[in-house]
Amino acid sequence: MAAALAVALPALLAFALVSSGPWRLPGPEPPPGLLRELEGRQRDLGRLAAVIRARVSPASSSSPPPPPALGCADVEGAAGVSLVGSGITKVVVRAALPPAGREVALKSVHGGGRDVNRCVQRYGHPAGCHRLAAYKLLKEATLLQSLEHPGIIELRGQCYDGSADPEMKITTILELGTPLEMIELLQTPWEKRFKICLDLVELLYYLANSPLGSITLLDFQPRQFVIVDGVLKVTDLDDASTEELSCQTDEDCVLEFPTKNFSLKCTMRGKCEGINERRNLFNAYRYFFTYLLPHTAPSVLQPILKDILNATGDLRYGVNETLRAFQKVLHLYKSGLYLQKKPSHLKEYIALKGFHSGTAEDYKCWPSYSHSGCVLSVHNAEEAADICSSHSQCQHFIITPQKTWTGRPLALFQSSSADLIPGGNTVVYMKRSAVSRGKPLTRSPNDYRDVGEEIPAGTNFGPPGR
Ligand SMILES: Nc1ncnc2c1ncn2[C@@H]1O[C@H](COP(=O)(O)OP(=O)(O)OP(=O)(O)O)[C@@H](O)[C@H]1O
Ligand SMILES: *[C@@H]1O[C@H](CO)[C@@H](O)[C@H](O)[C@H]1NC(C)=O
Ligand SMILES: *[C@@H]1O[C@H](CO)[C@@H](O)[C@H](O)[C@H]1NC(C)=O
Ligand SMILES: *[C@@H]1O[C@H](CO)[C@@H](O)[C@H](O)[C@H]1NC(C)=O
Repeated sequence: MAAALAVALPALLAFALVSSGPWRLPGPEPPPGLLRELEGRQRDLGRLAAVIRARVSPASSSSPPPPPALGCADVEGAAGVSLVGSGITKVVVRAALPPAGREVALKSVHGGGRDVNRCVQRYGHPAGCHRLAAYKLLKEATLLQSLEHPGIIELRGQCYDGSADPEMKITTILELGTPLEMIELLQTPWEKRFKICLDLVELLYYLANSPLGSITLLDFQPRQFVIVDGVLKVTDLDDASTEELSCQTDEDCVLEFPTKNFSLKCTMRGKCEGINERRNLFNAYRYFFTYLLPHTAPSVLQPILKDILNATGDLRYGVNETLRAFQKVLHLYKSGLYLQKKPSHLKEYIALKGFHSGTAEDYKCWPSYSHSGCVLSVHNAEEAADICSSHSQCQHFIITPQKTWTGRPLALFQSSSADLIPGGNTVVYMKRSAVSRGKPLTRSPNDYRDVGEEIPAGTNFGPPGR
């Protein structure tokens, strides 16, 4: 019953915890130092519960009731369990839940992790140390239940024995993601890297204006994020804070980073103005934007991206201005306005309808969407023609029906027409120079639709060479 209530009402859960102390653990009493730490965590959770009660109005409960949350029975029935990641405090496994075998992530206290180990070394009290770590997970679950955004991992349910259990065992059931691999991301096309940054800025915008006030992620690193269906989501929220630093003078409001300090204003209310938002934004700059935003961006967008980097790196922008700047970049990119106005190379190509590409390997380019060939996202055939003309190997290209997240088509660039197969509606854009050299193709000239002018008579379209 307590667990069921807790799922529905995080505020009550936290409240129950706070009002249940001072609790007793069986066995030896925890040493005073550990007891103080436990009480500190409990107070932290109590403050969060108070914020939730004050800020999340009961009116919001008039929204449709959430689907039934998963619980202990689901966790017990989990199959195909395997490790996906672990940190200092928590361990995450993937598992399939009955009846449909839907895959989820199960997060629990990492008994062999550094947090618990250090605590046990120090205090020699395993149950108390597990409980100390469990508070972090409980705080995270409470926050996840109160927040809702595509950039925040979705809590599907939890299994929690209640605060009477000395270890306070808790398992949270989350949507399954894949850990963020920065090295891999560095090798992906700019459009994908831009999306990660945009997702992050949208998350920071939500956090700065959240129902719980401005939330900061005190421990902000790429490893706190996962990707779910191509969307960046934060999964580690135990070090999030809804409290803004209190101050008496501006001197109290220094935001410190290893490479740089920022001085903020102390407001009339005795709070450092925007400190939570600015901390998130600078962390986004130093861990994400500097690595992911600039390289291989379309050259016309480079100056705008440099501005964004400069403005976030010096915290001249808040989250609102940063989001606006990102939306501007997205608009320019989607609308093709970034393309420089220069004579197009498309006239040098003949459009041939009724061919598609086989699967043979061809030349590679970077950063390709495919491992077996050169696949790039383009605005239109003009841009693709410019790209093909800039690649010495490229003899023809195909605008595929596949689209990227921005809605741009993927184009396949190839050097050899040996891989072209008759059939389908796809248009192949063939370099005129390649055609006149007599590359064999399997269509009568009447089937070809020219891009610019008539196909020259006598063009040699021989029998298939495959
Ligand atoms: N929903 C999820 N799907 C897939 N992997 C996840 C999920 N949540 C977390 N992970 C992975 O598990 C790791 C540990 O989770 P988490 O960051 O919550 O633990 P932590 O102990 O607080 O970590 P840290 O030491 O970084 O603070 C993450 O770095 C991430 O790679
Ligand atoms: C930032 O401030 C701290 C404390 O005031 C100081 O010790 C540190 O040297 C400063 N760092 C930089 C990079 O200025
Ligand atoms: C931003 O630009 C100014 C002026 O060019 C420069 O002095 C400053 O170092 C830049 N800041 C960052 C973070 O790049
Ligand atoms: C950012 O925009 C939101 C929504 O328009 C607004 O409520 C908030 O006050 C703005 N924040 C700042 C710091 O201007």
